[in-house]
Amino acid sequence: MENESRSIETRVEGQVGFITLNRPKVLNAINRQMLSSIVREMEEFDRDDNVKVIVLHGNGRAFAAGADIDEMMNDDSIDLELLNQFVEWDRLAWVKKPIIGAVQGFALGGGFELALCCDILLASEDAEFGFPEVDLGVMPGAGGTVRLTKLVGRATAMRWLLTGERFTAKEALDSGVVSKLVPSDLLLEETEKFASIIANKPSLSIRFIKESVHKAEDTSIYEAMQFERKNFSLLFSSEDQKEGMNAFKEKRKPHFKGQ
Ligand code: CAA
Repeated sequence: MENESRSIETRVEGQVGFITLNRPKVLNAINRQMLSSIVREMEEFDRDDNVKVIVLHGNGRAFAAGADIDEMMNDDSIDLELLNQFVEWDRLAWVKKPIIGAVQGFALGGGFELALCCDILLASEDAEFGFPEVDLGVMPGAGGTVRLTKLVGRATAMRWLLTGERFTAKEALDSGVVSKLVPSDLLLEETEKFASIIANKPSLSIRFIKESVHKAEDTSIYEAMQFERKNFSLLFSSEDQKEGMNAFKEKRKPHFKGQ
């Protein structure tokens, strides 16, 4: 069995926690043990006061080319039902700190689904996205039909899901899947700069903004507005609100403490 510690690697630089998918020989195909490690490290970074933003990226020529086909090809429905593996994926949605995905090369199937669990995606100009599951006689199972449809709408989601065709980084940008394109050789550098900008913001604001955007995606306008208002009010109990507004009045740079 592959050494667990090598299927992903982690490091902290400044206030940014990096998780690197590290099975480059199989284009970072995601097996179950790897997914458990990703979730565990995400939760670890989420608890770590020194980490403000999490970056997820892949080693080699893919972000991730899908769930590991070798691992699942002999499963039957009952195996999958009993495994209940997607519960682990659900835990990613509970991570409170912002997750930035840096996508280079392929983000396919479960790899694309993992990218869609991130809050913001930066992609290299050579990135390719897609849901090829239909050509394996299956379909996405880790949120692909749901998250993609919410993000790009039915017309585009149906096209990509039903044909299984791959689409380019430019198409991903134009359709709102990706926030920014970066030349391939600069992807990590630019992602780190981008992550540092967010890491230096008041972290309670960042936390509540993330929560509110997720709520807005998942509920009625009325309910989401109520939620936003509560979070807005809550921030007025923070020291960073006092500091931010005082600094504005005093025409100086704010010094945020994350409290
Ligand atoms: N699972 C297991 N192994 C994979 C893999 C995957 N998803 N994707 C790639 N690999 C392996 C290949 O088998 C190959 O291994 P060997 O060298 O031992 O043969 C190695 O990675 C390199 O891949 P290729 O030789 O195929 O590289 P390529 O450049 O010719 O093609 C590719 C790249 C188009 C991404 C091609 O590898 C491919 O089509 N991969 C499968 C993509 C896919 O179908 N993903 C969906 C998986 S199902 C899923 O994700 C379900 C879900 O929703 C949870």
